[in-house]
Amino acid sequence: MQYTTLGKTGLRVSVAGLGTGGFSRMGLKSGKTEAEAARLVLDAVDLGVNFIDTAPPYGTEGVVGLALKSIPRDRVVVATKSTVHRNNEWWTPQRVVASLDNSLKLMGTDYVDVFNLHAVEAHEYDYALNTLAPALVEQKRKGKIRHIGLTENPIVDHTNETLKRAVNDPVWEVFMVGFHMMHQVARQNVFPATRRKGIGTLLMFAVRSIFADPPRVAREIKALADQGLVEKWLGETADPLGFLVHEGGAASLIEAAYRFARHEPGVDVTLFGTGNAAHLKANIASLLKPPLPEADRAALVKLFGHLTAGVGLDSHQGPGATR
Ligand SMILES: NC(=O)c1ccc[n+]([C@@H]2O[C@H](COP(=O)([O-])OP(=O)(O)OC[C@H]3O[C@@H](n4cnc5c(N)ncnc54)[C@H](OP(=O)(O)O)[C@@H]3O)[C@@H](O)[C@H]2O)c1
Repeated sequence: MQYTTLGKTGLRVSVAGLGTGGFSRMGLKSGKTEAEAARLVLDAVDLGVNFIDTAPPYGTEGVVGLALKSIPRDRVVVATKSTVHRNNEWWTPQRVVASLDNSLKLMGTDYVDVFNLHAVEAHEYDYALNTLAPALVEQKRKGKIRHIGLTENPIVDHTNETLKRAVNDPVWEVFMVGFHMMHQVARQNVFPATRRKGIGTLLMFAVRSIFADPPRVAREIKALADQGLVEKWLGETADPLGFLVHEGGAASLIEAAYRFARHEPGVDVTLFGTGNAAHLKANIASLLKPPLPEADRAALVKLFGHLTAGVGLDSHQGPGATR
């Protein structure tokens, strides 16, 4: 494994971070038991992963708790989250603290390393900053939170509007940012400022569901070409990203997606989610490979670097969902 420092938190973290949400929820979604899912967490830790991301809506804090029973607590960096606003309800500071306490209970630990406000949209930001962040600072003082973070909601925010504002507020030590081969705007919008200010970055959506589904990639790229948003030839081939897979390049589209994301300057931890032991091993191996050949990386930047169309930024809660 390779390790890096998560910005000003000073935490030493693996460049590959285990995401326990997303489409797979460590396999719980496809019928794995909590014990089987916890075995996957331990597999990741055995391979050197020390960053684990969870959240109450994922239903995986119990899985993390099971895994933590056989891992010394200080060997892993655990991140969880709290909702800010959902279904027209603004969560009070008391409710957020109760959520933190419940997360601690489910995970069987007395602190979280990074506590994030979850999927905060631009119109929710002032409330998150002015009403909830002070309560988190208080919990940090009590030792229940080591560092305070913020995750954006790329599903509705394709241009990093929340994080563009949040970089100016020093309470946030860590950001979770959406970025992938066809959603690269954080390169301008987020990473220069996070690097300047020492904000740690966790990257989500490197693969999501789109890059695990090549026919879908072709369909989406054709739709973009039809709208004139990408070069015309990309819409005329069944394998528009096939140029990435070659001898000396990536072995698969998924590998290309992870290598592209992980080596973007400014990215600390690239999260990957899976419910499959073979995928887990393959993804860690991909994240540890060198950057894509420069010609391939440059081609992705030239072809898709301008896109703000929100390609592949879908919800795992069904069509139309915003989380
Ligand atoms: N706003 C937020 O705070 C937020 C939003 C989204 C995500 N997250 C975090 O980020 C983490 C990563 O999420 P993500 O959105 O990047 O998606 P993801 O959960 O990493 O999704 C990857 C998808 O691709 C499949 N896959 C993975 N490796 C594969 C392989 N080698 N071959 C074939 N298929 C493969 C997985 O299915 P299999 O199970 O079949 O492998 C999964 O469905 C989440 O778990 C969560 O912790 C946070």
